[in-house]
Amino acid sequence: MTAATAAAATHRKPLGASVNIPPRRMDFEFDGKTPRYWYDNDAFLSLYWTTLSALFPEGERFFVDSVRHFRDQITDPVLKAQIAGFIGQEAMHTKEHETINAAMTKMGIDANRIDRQLKPILGFVRKVTTKRMQLAVTCALEHFTATIAEQLLRDPDHAAKGEPEVMGLWLWHALEENEHKTVAYDVYQQVGGNYAERAGLMVAATVIFLGLTTYWHGTLLAQEGKLFDVRRNLKSAAYLWGRNGLFTRLAPQYLDYYKPGFHPNDHDTRVLLEEWREKLFGADGLLRDQVKKPNGKPFH
Ligand SMILES: [Fe+2]
Ligand SMILES: [Fe+2]
Repeated sequence: MTAATAAAATHRKPLGASVNIPPRRMDFEFDGKTPRYWYDNDAFLSLYWTTLSALFPEGERFFVDSVRHFRDQITDPVLKAQIAGFIGQEAMHTKEHETINAAMTKMGIDANRIDRQLKPILGFVRKVTTKRMQLAVTCALEHFTATIAEQLLRDPDHAAKGEPEVMGLWLWHALEENEHKTVAYDVYQQVGGNYAERAGLMVAATVIFLGLTTYWHGTLLAQEGKLFDVRRNLKSAAYLWGRNGLFTRLAPQYLDYYKPGFHPNDHDTRVLLEEWREKLFGADGLLRDQVKKPNGKPFH
């Protein structure tokens, strides 16, 4: 490589990387090798995470559009670079979740149906809300993804329950959700967002999110003939919502969002992120071989 091409390659470094939000191109393979119930061999929990996965392609396109709409109003060069990183990361998440959703659909767990049903719902939301309201909804849902992701990174038992290739996807996504957790929120603040709208739309987003995910999760369970496996389902539901359940434990972090002076950085994840960048992409990183160059060849 000549000095000139080396310099050009340096310049091609994504803008987001300069602010620690690097879009990493991944290439997971699930087809034919992912177990049907890949999380703890548990139908209820596996189908729950698959339901969430089914929401990401359309959901994250909504997030990206809502931030991109305000991009030209942002003058701060750091936030502009963070927006570039955010858009790049979410685009990669969409691509990889589409891959696992297709693999699940192929084995009869119809994640693509959920994706198709979500599209008109988000189309309706786009129609009846202002652009800033859409951004507030994005902030609310980014708070969900950041807190759920933080928990996944902090809880080794949780991370160990999944089949490694699928968990690789979720851990990579979890890392990046925390890397870019402030972006939509900071854009919202800069374009005149206010507390009443932000908190009100968090209530609405929570109710709608819980309603839809419960419904779609139920449809996948029904398709699998597991909906009335009541005893097992209750036990698995308790793992999420019981006294010390995964989501129950997130309640304080969720409620922090309603503080008037809340900022996503109130939950300090800097050390955690450093640890996980090393674990996933360091010299012996679990996903080191996954990171791809734009031309599809591995970086390393
Ligand atoms: Fe994402
Ligand atoms: Fe995100």
